[in-house]
Amino acid sequence: MISQQVIEEIKYRNEIEEVISGYVTLKRAGSNLVGLCPFHSEKSPSFTVFTGTKSFYCFGCGAGGDVISFVMRTENLDYREALHYLAKRAGIEIPEEGERQTGVSRDRVLSMNRDAARFFFDSLKKSREAQEYIAKRGLSAALCRHFGIGYAPASFGALFRFLSDKGYSKEEMQLAFLCSVSRKNNRSYDIFRNRIMFPVIDVRGDIIAFGGRTIGQDPAESKYINSSDTPVFNKRRNLFALNFARTSCAERIILCEGYMDVVSLHGAGFTNAVASCGTALTPDQARLMRKYSKSAVISYDADEAGQRAADKAFALLGEAGMEARLLKVENAKDPDEYIRKFGKEGFSRLLDRSRSRFDFRFSSILQKNDVSTPDGRVKAAAEAAEVIAGIPSQVEQDIYIRQVCKTLELPYESLKGDVGRKLAKREKSLSKERDAAILRSTEGFGDRVNPDRLKNIGAAGAEDAIIGILALYPELIPQMAGEELRLTPDDFVTAFNRRVYEKMTELGASFDVGLIGDSFTPDEVARIVRNTVLRQNLTENGLTVIRQCVEKLRRNREKDTLSLEELIAGKRKKQKQNERSPQGEGGA
Ligand code: UTP
Ligand code: MN
Repeated sequence: MISQQVIEEIKYRNEIEEVISGYVTLKRAGSNLVGLCPFHSEKSPSFTVFTGTKSFYCFGCGAGGDVISFVMRTENLDYREALHYLAKRAGIEIPEEGERQTGVSRDRVLSMNRDAARFFFDSLKKSREAQEYIAKRGLSAALCRHFGIGYAPASFGALFRFLSDKGYSKEEMQLAFLCSVSRKNNRSYDIFRNRIMFPVIDVRGDIIAFGGRTIGQDPAESKYINSSDTPVFNKRRNLFALNFARTSCAERIILCEGYMDVVSLHGAGFTNAVASCGTALTPDQARLMRKYSKSAVISYDADEAGQRAADKAFALLGEAGMEARLLKVENAKDPDEYIRKFGKEGFSRLLDRSRSRFDFRFSSILQKNDVSTPDGRVKAAAEAAEVIAGIPSQVEQDIYIRQVCKTLELPYESLKGDVGRKLAKREKSLSKERDAAILRSTEGFGDRVNPDRLKNIGAAGAEDAIIGILALYPELIPQMAGEELRLTPDDFVTAFNRRVYEKMTELGASFDVGLIGDSFTPDEVARIVRNTVLRQNLTENGLTVIRQCVEKLRRNREKDTLSLEELIAGKRKKQKQNERSPQGEGGA
């Protein structure tokens, strides 16, 4: 375990605003900061950083926490890894830890991947067939070395034996998605066979996964096999070749569909190319790209599937706040083939000719409507306004408004007005959605954090207020068990809040959400933070509200032992009390 003191130091030395600014563009809003949430897609900012309490909360999706849970979420790390990550960032030494936890660790899988990659690399040199294939695809020895491209032999046990000799167990190999176990005879076999192997390397330089392209002729074999998720890999959150591209993509990143496209592009000097590994682009990947680059050029296959995928990628990149353009490969099926046919100069020209999605859309609007007639121009303008209203960046919106006005010979103000009205309409329906989502996540179904809440809304509300205030003013915690209040975990009705309160009594006045990451999930931490956020602007004395809430919990408890008659008699009075009570969600 990392000591409490060290954790506090780590938190202190990693300013939450500073860390989050590396991922989200933050704007000041009163004493807080707001930005577009990195955990869900949104067009107006609901993501808030509270500098006073050093926490963040998204009113759109309910993600929340402190600087530690923030990096857990964004970097896909567990609590301990996040502490190490932040310690490193701030230059803090973490003193030697005691016993490591059981189970297969990240480090173990990473070292196994490294050994496997070395094995594949060496096997490539030994196989004539693989060498021939590599040559046929135009991959030079230097390029193979650069990417660590290798070959998985056409054998069911070659890698298994190699890794066994290195001391890895069958279970570890399975967990790393290198071997699988046959259900028939319970024997291990290699997953990647007779395939050219592309290691996926993350920005830290660790080999986290593999993609394998078959070189066999059997049409029943799938063309590619990609690592599924392992303790070190989440395919939705990583990009192939980002480890290389990250240093050359600040201005522009090229997004391809395939491993081979990326390798060819890098070989031709376009070292800013990446691809998603065996999935369509995900929101996480779009945000990852945004982290390293300002604008993207989508460079997908020429076929219809590729163009459909490009349309989705456009939307995701836009939502992530990236400027995106589309490049159309012509007279070749994909960028790899294009470069082989037309060289790097050819591809450079394609890059120069890449166009924004708006340009593509607007040219189809112009084709559809007869803009030589007033009626056609009005229709075209309305359609263009709709498209422009869907663009998140205001700067871009303005550029396109001017462009459309020029083409259609319209006054700037009138089109701008149209776009504004469409935006207002969108915003309204969005905020409705947002309110509904908040309600769902706290009051109704799908409350996975505190499933008991629904059965005991009243008591749970009082508990939430107690927890929120105590997390806000932990110096009050030691008083809770004292003569006056005698609040014990048993007073809590919902199991989740009881657990939180137990932790609070254990840590006392030094309670902080940063200290509980080993026993609470990020979603649970987010709930605690939500409860503090809602009570940050409390006008009443915190202790007074806690007293009322404890009282309410006790009354609630009595109710369970009251007779039905007593209950009915008390009902009206209670209803009135509830209406006035200050500890409901919005109130306290
Ligand atoms: P492509 O079929 O375009 O592959 O699929 P490619 O990279 O251009 O490969 P070559 O040129 O035919 O050798 C694009 C990407 O889709 C994923 C892979 O990530 C591939 O690179 N894919 C494709 C799979 O995951 N499984 C498949 O069976 C096929
Ligand atoms: Mn291809």
